[in-house]
Amino acid sequence: MPDVAVDVLPVSGSLGAEVRGMHLGMLEPEDVALIRQLLHEHLVLFFPGQDLSVDEHYAFAEALGEVYQNPPTASVFANYRDDDAAHPGLSVHRSHDGYRADSWHSDGQARSMTPPVKFTIFKMIRCPNRGGDTMWANQHAAYEQLSAPMRDLLDGLTAFHAADSDPTEYSTRPAVLTHPETGRKLLYLTRSHTKRLLELSEPESDALLHYLLDFAVRPEIVCRYRWTPGTVGIWDNLATQHYGVYDIDGPREFHRVMVAGPELPATVDRWPRLKTLQTA
Ligand SMILES: [Fe+2]
Repeated sequence: MPDVAVDVLPVSGSLGAEVRGMHLGMLEPEDVALIRQLLHEHLVLFFPGQDLSVDEHYAFAEALGEVYQNPPTASVFANYRDDDAAHPGLSVHRSHDGYRADSWHSDGQARSMTPPVKFTIFKMIRCPNRGGDTMWANQHAAYEQLSAPMRDLLDGLTAFHAADSDPTEYSTRPAVLTHPETGRKLLYLTRSHTKRLLELSEPESDALLHYLLDFAVRPEIVCRYRWTPGTVGIWDNLATQHYGVYDIDGPREFHRVMVAGPELPATVDRWPRLKTLQTA
């Protein structure tokens, strides 16, 4: 445990906590272990007033695992600097350049490249005068609060995910994942990316997703956080999905580094698919 007292202040009844008393630019191994433990418990952590340098932000990600490399993309976020060989995977997101993320999603869910994104780490640079909060939904709770028969059905289904903005981005994953670090099950379906449950007919899949995608983001399993410049936020990108509230009245900018997770299964082999991947 670190020498200084660390305060952990939950921000909702279901997930999320502010952590005070820890400087992310000077982490000891026991601090990193504590952050992992707190992430497993709270799923998303906020560290106000950090003011990390680019190097410190990047080093924080490296302390938690392998940095996730963004694929070449025509998206509205950019690399930190095109010639920046020291921080591959670090990206800059500016609302005033057109960036927005106001749909429930999990980062990188539609990418078939592996491994998946395990953690996402924001460093908030600039906040609008009003608005620009982010919301997260607890996907362990989403799974665990379903009835036993519904959980049993979902345990046997494979989901097809695709990015509307890029037809080359698609993937398949089990609808229910087992978290690689905690062994706890979670629902891995999002409004942004999930298009089809492959073992069901189209009307069955549409009806079930219509229900589940709302169930997974009910207010009772959501937290909402108001950023301040200098705050660092880190979340478990498998155990949560998130939504950037686009109600801003001025420029908003943050840096993002993501940490890659271990390989995840792509399929479930309980029932034959009614839809092939090529035509999903
Ligand atoms: Fe995101």
